[in-house]
Amino acid sequence: MEGGEILLERIQVLKKERKAVILAHNYQPPEIQDLADFVGDSLGLARRAAEVDAEVIVFCGVHFMAETAAILNPDRVTVLPEPKAGCPLADTVTPEGIRTLRNLYPRAAVVTYVNSTAAVKAESDYCCTSGNAVEVVRAVEASQIIFTPDKNLGHYVQKMTGRELIIWEGCCPIHDRITVEMVRPLAEKHPRALIIAHPECRPEVLEMAHEVASTSGMFGVVERTDRTEYIILTEAGMGYPLQKRFPEKTFLFPSPEPLCEDMKRITLEKVERALRTLEPRVTVPEDVRRRALRAVERMLEIG
Ligand code: 13P
Repeated sequence: MEGGEILLERIQVLKKERKAVILAHNYQPPEIQDLADFVGDSLGLARRAAEVDAEVIVFCGVHFMAETAAILNPDRVTVLPEPKAGCPLADTVTPEGIRTLRNLYPRAAVVTYVNSTAAVKAESDYCCTSGNAVEVVRAVEASQIIFTPDKNLGHYVQKMTGRELIIWEGCCPIHDRITVEMVRPLAEKHPRALIIAHPECRPEVLEMAHEVASTSGMFGVVERTDRTEYIILTEAGMGYPLQKRFPEKTFLFPSPEPLCEDMKRITLEKVERALRTLEPRVTVPEDVRRRALRAVERMLEIG
């Protein structure tokens, strides 16, 4: 047997022994997606994490995603094969930042994007993902809403709901780097291509898009449209699951390709080690977990 096959076999044996489930985000490297029991966007992964029937969750994604699984599964072991897999957007907001805004706007409800730490979620009233942010904001009854930490998603939600939001100034550097100047030549060269953008893109880039969707939402858009070419405005790892599901279609990305290095830190070797050692674990202090859970559960109830 080749080295790669031996490694894959070892992972399968360990997975059975540990009664583990492997969850992976749509941006993960192809070999990790092929190995996973479930691949999805943040919302799908949060939902799956809430339903898992396993003793161990191996989370192949970035830290805040594994933390969300740990918030929902206090009695299970959650491991993130590479602890340095972080999210620069999540790092833009702190619990103190949220408390300061609450003091300024005491009647406002706080809606926090899932790309945030558990400590920040614990200070928030609602969590949301790119897949349900519009629905969550529509469901909030408070007359003022603080939206953190992604300003681009915040502006998009504001436009879609007509609600005035107090928006935190964070952004995902990978999506924010996609500019109109990068998209225009691609759109001109492929005039029949449908443009699908992730809502973390800048407002002027979203203006160019025919459809705005979460990573998993993009599958639905491709499914219901009969184009042969699509321009995809999100992290380039998304090309793998799209091409796998729609082999007859062409998926184009702007140049330079948007790449999230954190998402690529997970390897098969690290998954094997995580299953063998049950480290590095992702844990959340119980008082923080309970408060963060409230925000996550409110989101799951809405949509
Ligand atoms: P999705 O929830 O759409 O997969 O987005 C996650 C993310 O972190 C995008 O940068």
